[in-house]
Amino acid sequence: MKFHDVVRSRRTVREFAERAVPAEAVRRALAAGLRAPCNAHLKSWQFVLLRDREQRTHAVVHALKARDMRDPAEIERFLARFDSEELKEVYRRSLPRQQAMMLEAPELLLVCYRMKPLAECRSLFELNPLASVWMCIENVMLTLADEGLFGCTYTPYDAEGLKAHLGIPAGTEIAAVIPFGYPKVPPGEGEGEDLDARLHIDRW
Ligand SMILES: Cc1cc2nc3c(=O)[nH]c(=O)nc-3n(C[C@H](O)[C@H](O)[C@H](O)COP(=O)(O)O)c2cc1C
Repeated sequence: MKFHDVVRSRRTVREFAERAVPAEAVRRALAAGLRAPCNAHLKSWQFVLLRDREQRTHAVVHALKARDMRDPAEIERFLARFDSEELKEVYRRSLPRQQAMMLEAPELLLVCYRMKPLAECRSLFELNPLASVWMCIENVMLTLADEGLFGCTYTPYDAEGLKAHLGIPAGTEIAAVIPFGYPKVPPGEGEGEDLDARLHIDRW
């Protein structure tokens, strides 16, 4: 695919076909991740693939404590804090799938990075390791999209339980837990944003 088409095709997908992902496609995506730019040449990134189904279930359900919010009343109570109807629609689609997508996906990837404790950071500059790991993640997601593979970058609110469970060393954080595979239904392209509403030339 042409690069621009890959960018346009990438979407968040939370439901997957029962079709194995070729090992080479996974390796290509992770290798592309490692080519991303990073702060101060510090590529502290590590990947964990959770392949064993039983262990994965334990990690997702008990260690990460990810859960699906399925009760419509609970969902609406949660959504009451938001004004944007568009945002509410995203949550109505995603909240019931937060655990299921991780249990069902053919692959589950953790992307980890090193960073000093947040409480010790005094400026946005010191968050550069977090910014950099997301460049790695986007390279991974785009390379997957090029192969017709899609996923969802789940960001744990509290990953300490999962870190302890998997033996992830102190000082290493989990940026995202990413279920991915071939989509159950083709994701479609999305509407895209209005560039002119966001572009400022010479001054805001
Ligand atoms: C930093 C970041 C955190 C996200 N966290 C979650 C998450 O925890 N759970 C989830 O289902 N989707 C998560 N998403 C996916 C977004 O909901 C999705 O990217 C957004 O709705 C735009 O849709 P698109 O990816 O199809 O363009 C996250 C995306 C990003 C970039």
